[in-house]
Amino acid sequence: MKRIVILLSGRGSNMQAIVERCAEEGWDARVVGVASNRPGAAGLAWAAARGIATAALDHREHASREAFDAELARVIGLWGPDLVVLAGFMRILGNDFVRRHEGRLLNIHPSLLPAFSGLHTHRRAIEAGCKAAGATVHFVTPELDHGPIVVQAVVPVLPGDDEQSLSDRVLVQEHRIYPLAVRWFVEGRLRTEAGVVTQLDGAPQLYLA
Ligand code: GAR
Repeated sequence: MKRIVILLSGRGSNMQAIVERCAEEGWDARVVGVASNRPGAAGLAWAAARGIATAALDHREHASREAFDAELARVIGLWGPDLVVLAGFMRILGNDFVRRHEGRLLNIHPSLLPAFSGLHTHRRAIEAGCKAAGATVHFVTPELDHGPIVVQAVVPVLPGDDEQSLSDRVLVQEHRIYPLAVRWFVEGRLRTEAGVVTQLDGAPQLYLA
C-alpha cells in the first residue's frame, strides 16, 4: 500500500478530493499524514476529524527557509511517504527538500503552466485577455512552478469573469485532475522521459470543462 502525505496551507479542498476518491475508488493507498505551515489551516482540522495524522509547523518559528524545510522533511519522513502531494501549500520549498523528494513530489498550480507561474494566476489571466485558463498537476523541480506536467484541465474565461468566478470554475477541474494524477502515481502508471510525462495506459492527460 502506497503512503501519501499531503502538505497544505489553507482550506484543503484538493486534499479532501484526494482523500475521498482514494476511499471511494479503493486505491491501494492511504493518506497517512497531512502537514501545514499554518497551524490554523482549515484543511488540518478536516483531516484530524477523519483520524488522519496531522502536523502543524509554523514557518515563522523557524530561523530560515532551510531550517523550516529540514524540520518539515524530518516530520513527514516519520510518516514514511511514497508520495508527497502539495495541495495549496503556499511556501516555496528549497532545493534540498525538493531534491530529497524529487520524482515523488506533486503540485497543483491554478494555471496552464508554463503560463502564469507564481501568484494571482486568475487575475493575471483575465487581465491578459486570455480566452482559456485552467490548472496543471506537475512533478516539482527546484524551479518554481516548472517540472514535468502530468495532467492539465482547461476552462473558458467568460466575459464578465472576475477572479472569484474564474477560480471557482478552475477549482472544479482541480478536484477532477488531482485525484487522477495521484491515482496514476500510486498505481505506477506514469513515466517521465526527458521532462515529458506519459500515462502508460494512454489515458487523456488533458481535460476540457
Ligand atoms: C488551489 O486553487 C491550488 O491550485 C492553489 O491553491 C488553491 C488551494 O485550494 N495552489 C497554488 O496556488 C500553489 N501555487 P485548496 O486548499 O482548497 O486545495
